[in-house]
Amino acid sequence: MSAENLAYAVVQVVHNFGAAAVVGGAVGALWLAGGDPGRQRGLAWLVLAGWAAQAASGASFGAVSLHYYGQFPDIHGIAVAALRIKVACALAGFVLAALWLRRAAGWSEAARRRAWKGLAALAAVALAAAAFLRWFS
Ligand code: HEM
Repeated sequence: MSAENLAYAVVQVVHNFGAAAVVGGAVGALWLAGGDPGRQRGLAWLVLAGWAAQAASGASFGAVSLHYYGQFPDIHGIAVAALRIKVACALAGFVLAALWLRRAAGWSEAARRRAWKGLAALAAVALAAAAFLRWFS
């Protein structure tokens, strides 16, 4: 078994579950936990952890490449734009989920829903950007 392939696969496992958490958590909060701030709070922790996992595992892809090839993957154009979009989504998603956990107790249900819609949109944009990163790199 190649250690390099194993390293990429382990990072990809974290990255895939992180993607599922940010998309599923936000969609679940909107469709299944409306009007239930307690359940939404649990989902906000899941989504926060998901965004953190995405940033950490995304950076780990680069670290594995650096370790085995002495350089980051050689990407250009659309792939670079897609990667920037993913990083921006991860930053914004983490901040918004953290804000939710700190402040949402004092928000109306309509404001909480707006925040969840923002988190769902960020997750959808990042997931779409992943496809462009994959096939333009
Ligand atoms: C700091 C943020 C992120 C970085 C640095 C990052 C980086 C990467 C890298 C380097 C790959 C491998 C690309 C390839 O196979 O050519 C990848 C794959 C992937 N990423 Fe991310 N990512 C980030 C955030 C996200 C987010 C937020 C999502 C989803 C919500 C996501 C979903 C995916 C998926 C689904 C793949 C697999 C694509 C495939 O092979 O078909 N990533 N990411």
